[in-house]
This record gives sequence, structure tokens and C-alpha cells, in this order.
Amino acid sequence: MGTPARRPDRQGLKYQRGSIKEETMQTAAPLRPVPAADVDPTDVGQLVREDRVHARVYTDPAIFDMEMERIFERAWIFMAHESQIPNAGDFVTSRIGRHPVIVVRDGKGQVHVLYNRCPHRGAILCREPEGNVHHFACPYHGWSFRTNGDITGIPFRSAYPESFLKDENLSMAHVERVENYRGFIFASVARQGPSLVAFIGPLKDGLDNLLDRSPSGEIEVSAGVHQYAYKGNWKMQMENGLDEYHPPFSHASTVKPDGQQVQRSYGAKGGFKVLTGSDPNQENARSHYDHGEVHGARYGQAYLTIPDATRRSELDDPDYRRLLAERHGEEKARALIESSNMSNAVFYPSVIMRVTGNMHIRVVRPISVGLTEVLVWPIQIKGVADGINQGIVRYANVHVSVSSFVQTDDLEVFERVYEGLQAGRPDWVMLARGVGQDWDGPYPDEKVGLATWETGMRAQFRYWKEQMTEAGR
Ligand code: FES
Ligand SMILES: [Fe+2]
Repeated sequence: MGTPARRPDRQGLKYQRGSIKEETMQTAAPLRPVPAADVDPTDVGQLVREDRVHARVYTDPAIFDMEMERIFERAWIFMAHESQIPNAGDFVTSRIGRHPVIVVRDGKGQVHVLYNRCPHRGAILCREPEGNVHHFACPYHGWSFRTNGDITGIPFRSAYPESFLKDENLSMAHVERVENYRGFIFASVARQGPSLVAFIGPLKDGLDNLLDRSPSGEIEVSAGVHQYAYKGNWKMQMENGLDEYHPPFSHASTVKPDGQQVQRSYGAKGGFKVLTGSDPNQENARSHYDHGEVHGARYGQAYLTIPDATRRSELDDPDYRRLLAERHGEEKARALIESSNMSNAVFYPSVIMRVTGNMHIRVVRPISVGLTEVLVWPIQIKGVADGINQGIVRYANVHVSVSSFVQTDDLEVFERVYEGLQAGRPDWVMLARGVGQDWDGPYPDEKVGLATWETGMRAQFRYWKEQMTEAGR
């Protein structure tokens, strides 16, 4: 393989959207370049070993450029839940890697994912995060487009030859593949590749499990969005969704028994016991989180199972139990409320879905090698009392908002990692917990480990290495 092509460095990108201030979107300046060390810079495959990855995978702008092309332009990327665009003309804007796109419902009710780019001279057509339109009008020369992308208006058209006006390239371009699994819309700019269901593998069960938690079988994404950015690499958030090693330390102020910031349920007196021994460095100390498992499968898809993830007062409501039992029977209803065979479902490379308790959709959008945007939509369950849904929003507020007790710790750590990796030495980032001890799971290529093992991250990097070392398809 030749030296990876370099695009202009995107660090320091000016970025304005929503409530994010421009200055918060500036990347941290590298303290000094990361040396290539003993890694051949022409072979990105050497950056990934079974139990470790080279620091460059998180810090090198050339690697980031390759990721946009070889990971994000080949994978299925989460776009929206269809409840976000229920009516004709409803749209949300999103990104597939570096491609800006619009997800829109047309006048006939069909959902399209369109490249957000005017076919005339290239202007972005829509800068709003969401809304409703009759048509899209370009701010530059006024070309306009129907909600299915078809060209509908070209001002002062007589200057164009008739043959040009028949050119099919005058309409907005459609993203190559779009699939909708039970309301969850994904898109891919790759013409070919596995189907969505084949790609997400075991996480299809996660979506089914999530919908099973609704007595109506339906959910809504209708409670607003938390949107923020951190100065670090996008993979930090995708890995952290599978990292049950860190909570006793990163989140000590929330989870330690004598210093919790939040009670685990209303009226609870004690904290949340996360260690069986008092000293985590004792030889036999085990983390509370090892009651659960982490699974990593083909295409980097991975998830956590946490036996007591849903034991929260908001969901432990008698009416909710009754409604769930009417739909599923007593036994399955109890299992859904009291345990989880899938808590965090991490859809590589674009989204984490919290299936239980604090149900939400957390989209991860890479902006540059050292700048990542995160958007969190709380999920609302259709057909339950308002109090249940308010509880989910409240839980999202304390867990994953910018003023939360928990995610703020994680964002600080993501930035510290990006800053620390600029040190250049040591060369490697270690992903060795449980290496060689993983056991086989039920899905293709699936490996399973205890929840604090780095089994899920190793699955992500198996896919990463496979794609990054395979030239254009
Ligand atoms: S660039 Fe859109 S109308 Fe000219
Ligand atoms: Fe965390």
C-alpha cells in the first residue's frame, strides 16, 4: 500500500450550529507530533495488534482521512428514527462521514436520504437541523427542489439549452442505499455491501428488545436533543460505550458508596456498590460490573449485557408492568424490567443506543481527528403514562447531558486521552483486558467477555483493520 493520501488538515475547522459556540469547536493544538516509532507508516495494518493499537489511530489526520473513506463511506450510518419526520415535508439534516445529507419525507410519505448539495454550483441547500418544507430552495441562484429531490425550478431558464434542462443530474443526488428497520433509518454511500440486518448482526435483537419495552411496540424520538462536542477522537466515545472498566474511577463521585451525587432510586439511602472488596488493587478485587458481559461480533458490532440495568423506579411502575405483561406475559415483562440481555448497543461506527432504563440514541459524528460531535435523543415510549417518559428524560439529563453527573466525566477523559497521546511515547494504547480468555458467542465471529474486558473494542478494531487495509471496492 502506498502512503495514505493527505487532505487539507481540518483541525481548527470553523463550525457553527445550534447552541455550540465556535470557540468550543476548536481542536486542541498538538503539543508535538507523534513519531512513527517502530511502525511502518505505509502500512496502517501494523497499527493494530491483538492486544493493543498504536496511538496514531487516534491522532493522525491522514488516518482520519482514510477512516472517512474506508469506514464511514462503506458502513451503514444511522440517520434518524422515522418519528422525527412523521409528516410530508418533515426533514432532519445529518452527515455520513464528511457528506452532509438531508433525511426527508416526501409528499407521498416516502423517506429519502439526499446529498445536501445544490446540483448547480454546490451550495449546501439546508442548514437547519430539522424542520418542515414544501421544497428546498438554494440560497445562491434560486434553484428549487421537491422533497423527493427532483428539480422543480430554475430561474431565467431560457439561457439554458433545452438538452441541458433534460439532464438528470440537475436533481438532488440520492444516497446510494437506504434501509429502515422497524422505524430506524440507516443509509450507506456504498453501492454494494452487506444488507443493514446483516451488518448490524446481533444488534437487530437490540432494536427488537428496545421496541419490546413499549406496550404499543412503538417508540418516539420527540423529547429534544442534547448536542455537544469534545476535543478528542471519535473512537473514544464508540469504545467508551463498551467500557465497564472505567465507571468506579471516572465516575467515582456518582457511584462510590459514600459519595454518590445521585440516589440510585427515590428514597435510597446508600450508594451504588461497584466493588466487592474495599481496595480495587487487591489481587482478588472484582468490579461489580463483571456481573454483565461484553459481546463483540462481525463488522465491529458490540453490546453490553447488564443484569440489573433497568432497576429504576421510573420504569418499575405498576401500570407499566401491567401494560407490558398484557403484551408479553408476566415472565417476559419481568425480565424486560429487571434485567437486560442488551443494555448498550454500539452500532459501529456511528451510534450507541441505550436499550434499557435511560433509553436514548447517541450519535457520534467525527468532525476532524481531534474533534467529535455527540447528539443524544432521549427515547419516549408510546402508550405509557407521561411519568414514565418524563423519567427517561430526567435520567438522560443526569447521565448524558452536558450538565450531567456522568457524561461530563467521560468527555473530560476523552479530551485528556487526546492530549495525553500527543506525548508520543509510549507508542501503544492497551486493549488487553481478557485477551485470550474471550469465549465464543452465538453470532458469527462473536466473542464474549466479562463486562470490564476490552472484548468489544477488540471487535471494533478487527473490523477497522480489515477495512483500513482493504483498498477501494
Ligand atoms: S448553487 Fe444552487 S442555485 Fe446556484
Ligand atoms: Fe462513562
